[in-house]
Amino acid sequence: MLNYFKQAIAGLRSENRYREFVDISRICGEFPYAINNKNGQKIVVWCSNDYLGMGQNPQAIAEAINALKCYGVGAGGTRNISGTNQPITALEKKLAQLHQKEAALTFVSGYVANDATIQALAKIIPHLVIFSDQKNHASIITGIKNSGLQKRVFRHNDMAHLEELLQEFPQDQPKIIIFESVYSMDGDFGKVAEISALAKKYGALTFVDEVHGVGIYGATGAGLCEQLGLSDQIDIIQGTFAKSFGTIGGYIAAKSEIIDAIRGTASGFIFSTALPPVIAAATLANISHLQKSSVERQKMQQNVTRLKSELQKIGAEIVENESHIISVKIGDAAKAREISARLLNEFNIYIQHINYPTVAKGDERLRITATPLHSEKMILDLVSALREILDCTRE
Ligand SMILES: Cc1ncc(COP(=O)(O)O)c(C=O)c1O
Repeated sequence: MLNYFKQAIAGLRSENRYREFVDISRICGEFPYAINNKNGQKIVVWCSNDYLGMGQNPQAIAEAINALKCYGVGAGGTRNISGTNQPITALEKKLAQLHQKEAALTFVSGYVANDATIQALAKIIPHLVIFSDQKNHASIITGIKNSGLQKRVFRHNDMAHLEELLQEFPQDQPKIIIFESVYSMDGDFGKVAEISALAKKYGALTFVDEVHGVGIYGATGAGLCEQLGLSDQIDIIQGTFAKSFGTIGGYIAAKSEIIDAIRGTASGFIFSTALPPVIAAATLANISHLQKSSVERQKMQQNVTRLKSELQKIGAEIVENESHIISVKIGDAAKAREISARLLNEFNIYIQHINYPTVAKGDERLRITATPLHSEKMILDLVSALREILDCTRE
């Protein structure tokens, strides 16, 4: 039997898909620095999804310590069997307020929030048809597969195609359109206004994954829908705590009946231990901070603009978008791996290369995340290192 596993590993290696984790220790208070545990060198991290450095927010750390002392380390079980806890309840109230919805529900991750919610929809609305953007995240695709519901996949952001697919079904057929606000690899925006209009026309519900939008977009960090003034057009807003909010966990926000029904049917909620109070307390502190402060998102956008322009000057091929995600096209798995390794080993700069299956084969890239805490010098050092390496690979 072990041969199956050996063959799988050999296959991954032959396709340059074998994963080797870069072993680093983030340094609390020195974001975005970390220690490369392989050689003890201090490195600058340029690929963290802790987009705003909130994982090290002193207020969140203080709240976490307080919650640890009050409640201990874990949650003690699922909320149905072992009871809920005050920090989670407060967090859900905050999330509902953030998205201007009636209620919210937390899950152990954004992945589970998507998968569990979509599966629950199948139990609640048995003849539901799902219309899913072609570039939706793996957690959405898995949720759709697991739901067993009928689905139609529309070409990425192609509204004519979506409408064509919607027209295949009678007006009274239950429908839901699932899409993302910010697509994580290309960094392009989902068509919130157009999708909402089509949903209204064809009587469909809307579900948006705001995982890469919350914290960064909107006056209070509620995401792209808030920025566009369209939060009320979306039936279910899904998000994560693991990116801009700096911790871990996922959630949905919606009308109270929707949340109540999902709470009682979503297997991934019912049968999984709740988030620990320590995480809920730290997350609540970060969301509350970002609701009031735009300093972090503004500084981040400045750094993103600056880095994009410097990269263009050295001829790096950047995926065009208007978001905070900077993707440098490489187009070859081995080359992407080599560039990433050279950056780390020769320049103490960490940018993880992104290969299949996260992106399509031939679409390999470096995905760079500029945070508010990257300095001018860090930006210039990165550009200079990349210029040297890219020049070599072009020769
Ligand atoms: C678009 C999207 N949705 C959902 C998730 C899952 O979120 P989490 O990391 O909280 O599980 C991710 C993770 O990167 C994502 O990119």
